[in-house]
Amino acid sequence: MFTSTSLAAGAALISLAAGSPVERQALKFTYYDLTTPLASPCDITTGQDGKIYADTFTSNKIVQIDRSTGSLTEYDIPYTLPVLGNDVLPSDLQGRVALSCVVQPGKDGLIYAAAGVRNEFVRFNPETNETKVFPTGNPLGNLQPFNDAWPGETGMFFSQTTGNVINLFDYATTNVQTFEVPTPLAGPLGMIVASDGALWFCEMLANKIGRLNATDGTFKEYPLPLSLATPSVMRAETEGRYLWFTAIATNAIGRFDIQTGETKTFTDPRLLATPIEDTVDSQGNIWYSTLTRNTLNYLTPSTGKVTTIAQPDGDLEILPGLLPSLPPAADIAMHYEPSDNSIWFSELVNNRIGKYSI
Ligand SMILES: *[C@@H]1O[C@H](CO)[C@@H](O)[C@H](O)[C@H]1NC(C)=O
Ligand SMILES: *[C@@H]1O[C@H](CO)[C@@H](O)[C@H](O)[C@H]1NC(C)=O
Repeated sequence: MFTSTSLAAGAALISLAAGSPVERQALKFTYYDLTTPLASPCDITTGQDGKIYADTFTSNKIVQIDRSTGSLTEYDIPYTLPVLGNDVLPSDLQGRVALSCVVQPGKDGLIYAAAGVRNEFVRFNPETNETKVFPTGNPLGNLQPFNDAWPGETGMFFSQTTGNVINLFDYATTNVQTFEVPTPLAGPLGMIVASDGALWFCEMLANKIGRLNATDGTFKEYPLPLSLATPSVMRAETEGRYLWFTAIATNAIGRFDIQTGETKTFTDPRLLATPIEDTVDSQGNIWYSTLTRNTLNYLTPSTGKVTTIAQPDGDLEILPGLLPSLPPAADIAMHYEPSDNSIWFSELVNNRIGKYSI
């Protein structure tokens, strides 16, 4: 177990002098181990109850962390459908794997998660601990573990990447509305309801940013420059007009202006850092996870500077900044929690959730 006490002890051992920058940084991290082995925590959010929620990539669990006590609880998801099209997985994982990687808080106080290859939508009630599973209505929709969600006023939006649709799950009726993305095989993935009230989303395979007006069902689409290929996750807005997204293939963070449609590219200076998720802090910094680097990273929009913070897990950085960390922790989630100015992140390979106090 990585408690803050053992972290402090470890940091004291590796730092040359008490109070060194390494030690001070390490003390800002707290880790929460999952209880299910190899559960692989993926996405993270905060519920209206102030608790942290995570979903897991390779087990059927919703994870809850009570920030006041530090206790971590796992709740089973009673999936009803068998895994589809998933022959590459080892047999002992068949039957429990969901490959899901999105959890979001509904405006109804419930917690929503999508279920990857299970092609089901999950709703957890923090008051009763009850988990319900709903079909997504599209048998081909989630055959890959790529989908995302974002709370709207009347329901939860979610994307079915391989089904090429955006859905809206009504909080009150549980009915699912389906909106077909105009560009075929666009690969709709990351999404955010922006300050203009529209749902904006990444078309990962079509290299476009899309806009959906769910009231009248109309779409607009904006092609991206080559420097922002494979737009993936978009969970940050600044200044009431800029949307920020990760561009995995080009190792970049993109900025999209919802007023003019203009873009700006901010490339991570490290080779193949592989940005995955992003979030914005109270200062307007864009934090993002990197799959191949054991660092937390943030971009300062006014200067374009990328700042990296090493995760204190003793991983070997042979040529820091040049080669990927060994072994990579496979950081996926990057979630800002304003109430205590902290960043929450998942280390998929290390089966734990981390908190960094800014
Ligand atoms: C929900 O689960 C938590 C953790 O096990 C428990 O403390 C709480 O009493 C449960 N609530 C209900 C309504 O069962
Ligand atoms: C959506 O369309 C309706 C009807 O055309 C319009 O009244 C509304 O302002 C639009 N909403 C957004 C967010 O664009």
